[in-house]
Formats: sequence, structure tokens, C-alpha cells
Amino acid sequence: MSVPPALAPHLGEGITRWEAASLMELRSSAPDAFEALREAVDALGVASGVAQNLKGPLTSVAKLVEMPGQRLYLLRAGARVSGLVKVGEKHLYYWRRGGGAQVELDPRCVLDFYVVAQRRGDGKRVFDAMCAAERAEPREFAYDRPSPKMLPFLARHFGLTAFAEQPNNFVVFDAFFSDRSAMPPRDPPRRLGGTADRVVGTM
Ligand code: ACO
Repeated sequence: MSVPPALAPHLGEGITRWEAASLMELRSSAPDAFEALREAVDALGVASGVAQNLKGPLTSVAKLVEMPGQRLYLLRAGARVSGLVKVGEKHLYYWRRGGGAQVELDPRCVLDFYVVAQRRGDGKRVFDAMCAAERAEPREFAYDRPSPKMLPFLARHFGLTAFAEQPNNFVVFDAFFSDRSAMPPRDPPRRLGGTADRVVGTM
């Protein structure tokens, strides 16, 4: 989706981070830009749902406003809004391998992930920026119903392959448990570095 003029000043080239508070701030300070952002995010959310054969979108501005803890990372490449990744914490039950004990976890989760132009590196770019902003490695996330493209993506770029299948369809890689830093940090995520990748919102 192309970036409307009203939105351009608020959506820098590269990666921007959004959550309920920054969306509400934009709605008060620049209603036209908010409306344009809402249209762009909602359209990407619909396209992501279609690409994953879901019944409906996982991501929309209305859903983000309802879930104040969730963070949306948006990719703008040139004049287009061209990808998203959404993360947030979830309370999960996790069954250990071989009929082992069930444990409860509160991991950061990758909840939605989509790029318009696929297999050209955009996914890696937005995912790397999200991990840097979250100060987390890919192994430290749980993945909500990873799609047939997501699992090869994680294997290819990050060597994540081993996991115990779960009835709730979340994937928690074995590497998640390799040290305790896998749990959500107490500090807020840090600002993205560099000139191309920048962040707006509450960071
Ligand atoms: N089939 C198999 N593997 C794929 C495919 C595909 N059609 N597309 C991407 N990949 C994987 C492969 O490992 C590929 O490496 P290869 O080309 O050497 O085989 C690698 O991703 C390419 O890396 P990028 O170019 O950075 O990935 P891309 O830009 O395509 O982004 C993404 C990955 C976001 C999964 C994208 O393919 C996409 O939007 N897919 C549709 C939506 C989707 O399935 N999202 C994941 C939801 S699951 C979740 O959110 C927890």
C-alpha cells in the first residue's frame, strides 16, 4: 500500500514501532495521518490473514488499541508500507517432550508477520529490526501457529529447528530454554539505531 501524503511525515523510511499509546497520540494530534495509518495497517493485516489462510486478520489498529502491551513494527520501503511484525506477551502452557510435565510460561510471542514482497529479504530486515528493538534473539520468542513459510524462515536465518509440538499450536524452540534471558526483560526495548531504521512512538 502506498504511503498517503498525510501519513508520510509520521512514518519514516525503514522500521517504525507502534502501540496503543502512540496510536492514540497520533489520533489526537494528526487525525488524517491516523486514519491513513489505520487503513494501511488494516490492509496489511487482512493480507497477512489471507496469506496464512486464516479466517480473519490478526492485526488491525482496533486490535492494537485493545491490547496496550502489544508492539507493531511496520516496514516502509520507499513510498510503500510493505510489511509488519507484531509481538506481545502471552501466558502459555508448555508440555515437555516425551510426556513430561506441563509448565506455564509468559514468553514474548511473535503473533503476526507479513511482508508484501516475499523472499527478497524484507522479512529478515523487519524481523532483525524487531529483535534489536526488543533486545531479544529469535530463540527467545514463542511463535503463534507458525506458517509453512515461517518455519523455514527461522531455520534458514537463525538455525531454529528443534521444538516439541504443542496442542496449542505455539512453537517454543528448545533453544528458548538454553538460558534464563529468554524471559521478558524488565527494561523497555531500546531505540533502533542507524539512519534508515527509526522508531516513532513511545520509545
Ligand atoms: N516457501 C518456503 N520458505 C519460504 C517461503 C516460501 N514460499 N518464503 C520465504 N521462505 C523462507 C525461506 O527459508 C527463505 O529462504 P530461501 O529463499 O533461501 O529458501 C527465507 O524465508 C527468505 O527470507 P526472507 O526473504 O527474509 O523472507 P520473506 O521476506 O519472504 O519474509 C515471511 C518471510 C514474513 C514469512 C513472508 O514469506 C510472508 O509474508 N509469508 C506469508 C505470511 C506468513 O506466512 N507469515 C508468517 C506467519 S507465522 C507467525 O507470525 C508466528
